Amino acid sequence: MTAHPEAATAPTQARAGAGRSTPAPRANDPGFYNDKVVRQFTYASIFWGIVGMLVGVLIAAQLYWPALNFEIPWLSFGRLRPIHTNGVIFAFGGSALFATSLYIVQRTCHVRLISDRLASFVFWGWQLALVAAVVTMAAGQTQAKEYAEMEWHVDLLIAVVWVAYGWLFFGTITRRKVPHIYVANWFFGAYIIAIALLHIVNNLAIPVDWTKSYSVYTGAVDAMAQWWYGHNAVGFMLTTSYLGMMYYFVPKQAGRPIYSYRLSIVHFWALISVYMWAGPHHLHYTALPDWVQSVGMVFSLILLAPSWGGAINGIMTLSGVWHKLRTDPILKFLIVALSFYMIATFEGPLLSIKTVNSLSHYTDWTVGHVHAGALGWVAMITIGSLYSMYPRILGLPSMYSVKLIDVHFWVHTIGVVFYISAMWIAGITQGLMWRATNGDGTLTYSFVESLNATYPYYLGRLLGGLMVFAGMLVMAYNFWRTWQAGRDAAPQPVLAPRDDVHG
Ligand code: HEM
Ligand code: HEM
Repeated sequence: MTAHPEAATAPTQARAGAGRSTPAPRANDPGFYNDKVVRQFTYASIFWGIVGMLVGVLIAAQLYWPALNFEIPWLSFGRLRPIHTNGVIFAFGGSALFATSLYIVQRTCHVRLISDRLASFVFWGWQLALVAAVVTMAAGQTQAKEYAEMEWHVDLLIAVVWVAYGWLFFGTITRRKVPHIYVANWFFGAYIIAIALLHIVNNLAIPVDWTKSYSVYTGAVDAMAQWWYGHNAVGFMLTTSYLGMMYYFVPKQAGRPIYSYRLSIVHFWALISVYMWAGPHHLHYTALPDWVQSVGMVFSLILLAPSWGGAINGIMTLSGVWHKLRTDPILKFLIVALSFYMIATFEGPLLSIKTVNSLSHYTDWTVGHVHAGALGWVAMITIGSLYSMYPRILGLPSMYSVKLIDVHFWVHTIGVVFYISAMWIAGITQGLMWRATNGDGTLTYSFVESLNATYPYYLGRLLGGLMVFAGMLVMAYNFWRTWQAGRDAAPQPVLAPRDDVHG
């Protein structure tokens, strides 16, 4: 890992004009880097983002108007919910992570991906796995493990594609032309290894037929394996990986080196060593041994420090160029994403405290926390990074319309605020009503009364979700017009590595 920001730019200068180590471009390949796979995953991310969030809007509407399932089994809430969660996490977010990690590893290592065919296999294999996941879950097949609902045959495909992805990523790193490994690649590397481990261990199962399998774990051990997976899916698939995006695109877009490389190293090691132990906070007051629950709580509290340290490292990168926030909506996406990351990682440790969790668990407060992280952090850092990256891979100076990016920023931000504040109020109301007791020990409120009290907030969440979804459509339009601009621009063959000046 580099200890100095200049380290990332030095090889660029050394190589400029020399072309010594630059392989000659092939006839059908005007670029030095493999940007085809980056483009493919970018389009896939936007497509799946629209699909996943549309399903999110639909289930949000179903929670307000239950009749919207039209009594069709595959439109029922129970089947659509995992399509939403897996769709946004693995299809929208996953595709964006493939796109950005493969873009960044080439730029920061100054080499092309080791194999175009392997890259193509990773893209098509992942899309096949996603389609298989949607179809099988719509048909009602499920392992009943949250964020790991897919049945064994889809899991096998995912495992094969993931190993191929790891091979592509780490293989490219081993061929790098620079001595150091830029910090963003450390975060991507950790997420690739961790997700392989989590996916394989949690999905160990014995198939009984094509559509059904049984987990090798039972009882409390099954629950612990599942939430070791579930929490680290959050830790690595929804956090560590996006920090990789952050460490490349925040400095890039700000035109400044990262605030502190020393802090980024401490951030990396602290985060990955603490995350793995926090999973039991999902199982407070269950059959899990009490001391394991307490270990989960303590590690969750410790997590606040590296999380905020990393976020501050990102935000402080703007030192000296804060004024850019006034004019650059891409930077606004990236920096507001970090603010939501700080909100979610303050709220997470709070929710992990057993006494707080006894109020929040089973309520919409959890759903509010999830979407502060998911819509505020994950979606915003993704959207900002894609806006920053896309014109660069087309060789254009900017996106088709900066104004539309600004429009997207505002509808998204206001939508997220609507969503999460509605869920916070609904959740705390539920928690307080469920625990209220009369003098004689009987419950003050029936469940239906608590439902009635929270009903209006479900409409508020739907409104917020619709705004976020509308923003995605604006984004798709902007990308389409940018693509047209790229197509119409005179082709400019790129004979040497470009765009790798960092900070
Ligand atoms: C238009 C935007 C979105 C809307 C309207 C929406 C709506 C919903 C709804 C209604 C639920 C079910 C809540 C329940 O069961 O009570 C849900 C769950 C969930 N969503 Fe979203 N969502 C959106 C975007 C996203 C994004 C972008 C992500 C991730 C990157 C995400 C991740 C999740 C997760 C992880 C859950 C499960 C929460 C839990 O189990 O506590 N959502 N969403
Ligand atoms: C310091 C970091 C964090 C800690 C300690 C933490 C802690 C927690 C806790 C205690 C819960 C509630 C468990 C329950 O009552 O069932 C939870 C739920 C959740 N958190 Fe976090 N959180 C953190 C950051 C994040 C971030 C950045 C995201 C990003 C999206 C996120 C996503 C989720 C999801 C998806 C769930 C719902 C799991 C489920 O029940 O389906 N968390 N988290």
